[in-house]
Amino acid sequence: MPVALRADHLRKVYPGTSSGTAALEDLTLEVPSGRVYGVIGRNGAGKTTFLRIVATQLALTSGSASVLGHDVATQERAIRARIACVPQEARPLYFLNVEEVVYLYLKLRGMDPVESRRRTRDALDQLTLTEFRKRTVARLSGGLRRRVLCAMVLASDAEVLFLDEPTTGLDPIARRQVWESIRRATREQRTILLTTHYLDEAEALSARLALFERGRLVLDGTPEDLRGRVRYPYRVTIQGSYPREELDSFGKVSAIEGGFLVFAREPEARELARMALERGHRVSMGPVSLEDIFLDVVGKSIEDEGTPPEVEA
Ligand SMILES: Nc1ncnc2c1ncn2[C@@H]1O[C@H](COP(=O)(O)OP(=O)(O)OP(=O)(O)O)[C@@H](O)[C@H]1O
Ligand SMILES: [Mg+2]
Repeated sequence: MPVALRADHLRKVYPGTSSGTAALEDLTLEVPSGRVYGVIGRNGAGKTTFLRIVATQLALTSGSASVLGHDVATQERAIRARIACVPQEARPLYFLNVEEVVYLYLKLRGMDPVESRRRTRDALDQLTLTEFRKRTVARLSGGLRRRVLCAMVLASDAEVLFLDEPTTGLDPIARRQVWESIRRATREQRTILLTTHYLDEAEALSARLALFERGRLVLDGTPEDLRGRVRYPYRVTIQGSYPREELDSFGKVSAIEGGFLVFAREPEARELARMALERGHRVSMGPVSLEDIFLDVVGKSIEDEGTPPEVEA
């Protein structure tokens, strides 16, 4: 699989902070081209720092990174022509209307007027912004402004898109329209680096996922790989009462409203589900969600402040 982006022992220490508190530490990863690569992690984990470095907006401290074969430190110009970004905090130009702001962005990137017009129309349509096309950005709601930024970037012909929490503040329907546009971009063989706190979104879109914690990469792989790396890849919920000791042998147990949630390996999960069903209790069983994995891995690291979280090999 061709690689669109590479980071090699990347380290970032912001000026004025002590070198012991790196925002990124020894980050090595590869982003395959033509797919969505999702980056997740708690507030302050280093996601935006990483995106800004590979988007050539921020200098790295040591190590290296490249986008489409160009080095981020020395070949910014070559990279900038081929990427587009939705930053975490940004808003489109206030005084233009929606249609103008998208069209102008494409023109400024060097697209010809006919193509710019066509792609503007398509993007507004995709993100159901057509009815607002004549409205000035200053008069849009926060979520609509965010959608306009997504429309600009998705309408571009950039080969690599950096989307830093593109759907934060969007309603559930608009969020899914952005997902569809992202999927469409991958069908055009474009690469997308996406950060999000919506783990359902990360799971729905990403071919590969990276979990950052305190500036380090602690997990990465396909959603399936990630499930295979946690101790308990299944979750079983049981509505009913049990002595806690009876459940402890199956896996990791926690009490929930009206029953228990048990994380277990597959044979124990099946055994537990069968036992609970025989007793006439309501049971559900399935693979762990990305959120379960996140809470498990990151939760352990919080309990264990100071040492990086451990993951089963
Ligand atoms: N301009 C800056 N100067 C100094 N430290 C910074 C700066 N920007 C970010 N940091 C620090 O770098 C670390 C990583 O921040 P970053 O914004 O990359 O996290 P993030 O994963 O994007 O978080 P969030 O989910 O909240 O957006 C944090 O400890 C943050 O305080
Ligand atoms: Mg961020």
